[in-house]
Amino acid sequence: MEFTVESTHPAQQRSACIIAGVFERRKLSAAAKALDEATGGAISALVKRGDMDGERGQCLWLHHVPNDLADRILLIGCGKEREFGEAAFRQVTAAMVGALRRTGADQVHNYLTDLPVKGHDLEWKLVQSVLVVEDGLYRFDEFKSGKKSDLVALKRMVLNVADAKDLEAGANAMARASATALGMALTRDLANRPGNVCTPTHLAEQARQLKKAYKDLKLEVLDEEEMEKLGMGALLAVSRGSEQPAKLIVMDYRGGKKSDKPVVLVGKGITFDTGGISIKPGEAMDEMKFDMGGAAAVMGTMKAVAELRLPMNIIGVIAAAENMPDGKATKPGDIVTTLSGQTVEILNTDAEGRLVLCDALTYVERFDPDVVVDLATLTGACIIALGHQASAVLGNHGPLINELLAAGRHSGDRAWEMPLWDEYQEQLKSNFADMANIGGRPAGTITAACFLSRFTKKYKWAHLDIAGVAWKSGKEKGATGRPVPLLMQFLASRVKD
Ligand code: BES
Ligand code: MN
Ligand code: ZN
Repeated sequence: MEFTVESTHPAQQRSACIIAGVFERRKLSAAAKALDEATGGAISALVKRGDMDGERGQCLWLHHVPNDLADRILLIGCGKEREFGEAAFRQVTAAMVGALRRTGADQVHNYLTDLPVKGHDLEWKLVQSVLVVEDGLYRFDEFKSGKKSDLVALKRMVLNVADAKDLEAGANAMARASATALGMALTRDLANRPGNVCTPTHLAEQARQLKKAYKDLKLEVLDEEEMEKLGMGALLAVSRGSEQPAKLIVMDYRGGKKSDKPVVLVGKGITFDTGGISIKPGEAMDEMKFDMGGAAAVMGTMKAVAELRLPMNIIGVIAAAENMPDGKATKPGDIVTTLSGQTVEILNTDAEGRLVLCDALTYVERFDPDVVVDLATLTGACIIALGHQASAVLGNHGPLINELLAAGRHSGDRAWEMPLWDEYQEQLKSNFADMANIGGRPAGTITAACFLSRFTKKYKWAHLDIAGVAWKSGKEKGATGRPVPLLMQFLASRVKD
């Protein structure tokens, strides 16, 4: 999809479709009013006849409107004007895409961007419009034989900017949003691919494709032999039971000055999590193909960053492995030595994410990072605590945590802090090694982060548990592309400083 910004009058566009909002009850938005005036009251006449009340999400198509140059007009109900906030803006934009999908309109002019949204500026509306539209158009049909899902005619959307002086800022915001959407689509594709296709080797291959496409991107992939030599005993313990070799994928993007310390992103890349010997119950186990959602978000963000050519240095690291039961698999009670030298008693082989991450987190010390953020579908407990609305954020540096929380609020890809108090560390005590890999039932998300915190003492670090946000279960089962919007907002706002 191509997006552009323009500052134009809605009645003077030779467009396949003009989109404008109507508030409850029957109150025309500025753009709808302008259309109404130009068409001799055609819009208000229809609305008065009772065809459009303005209820949020309602859609009304108008064809052959006299004195209008466009092929059609699409009116979108926006609900009560006083209640028009960020959720409403996203809802009406989503309703618009839903309506457009089912038509032949290829090139449309969207004037919903003129609607005032409480607490947000034009740039925010443009970014959200692009993300919501791309989200509504995304389909994953790589594995459907025969007819692909309904082809959509929509090719180009012009987003209106009421005041022409905002055009440049608008175009920049849109470029950022388009790159973010591109990254999200990659994240979703990777996470939607089944475990028999999306293996650690596949992730490494995808990283190779990225490196080929973007010259600012370098790549290094460590294989099991190299990891063995380094002493990554925890990561390798996870992959022991699998026929698929583990990979440590290091993508190095240099868009900043040589002296700029890099932001390091580390993603959990369990391409399938059976639980290992501590095997999971069968119900919905298929969803554990998404257990590389953190890795997919790292890869998507690296793509977006390279596409945008953000002027900063960013390193993306993916700890990729498959967690399987086997004769060779790690057993409960096994003790391994991590890259840090600390020993871990693996009491539950299903707590494998922290095991691959701890070695990757030690590995990234060598990059002398400014900050490190890891992303992981780490705990079911996170879904119990926060549901599917927010990522959990925990870490050892308040300002970094606040940056992530702010990026979450601004992007709508929200995060919520959980405490990492010392008292929780006691739950990880082991009688036989430096620590256990599980901390019992209470505060599962926190004790998982406690485990990671023992490997991140040398730098500023935050952890995002994305178990609840990275995918949807049920009828709409599939990857969401989160938390790429949060990460892009986080990174972009670091550039401005
Ligand atoms: N990948 C899972 C966490 C998960 C579960 C994500 C459900 C999304 C949906 C992780 O590897 C895991 O199995 N965690 C265990 C930890 C426990 C053994 C301490 C969990 O959450 O049950
Ligand atoms: Mn697990
Ligand atoms: Zn897992």
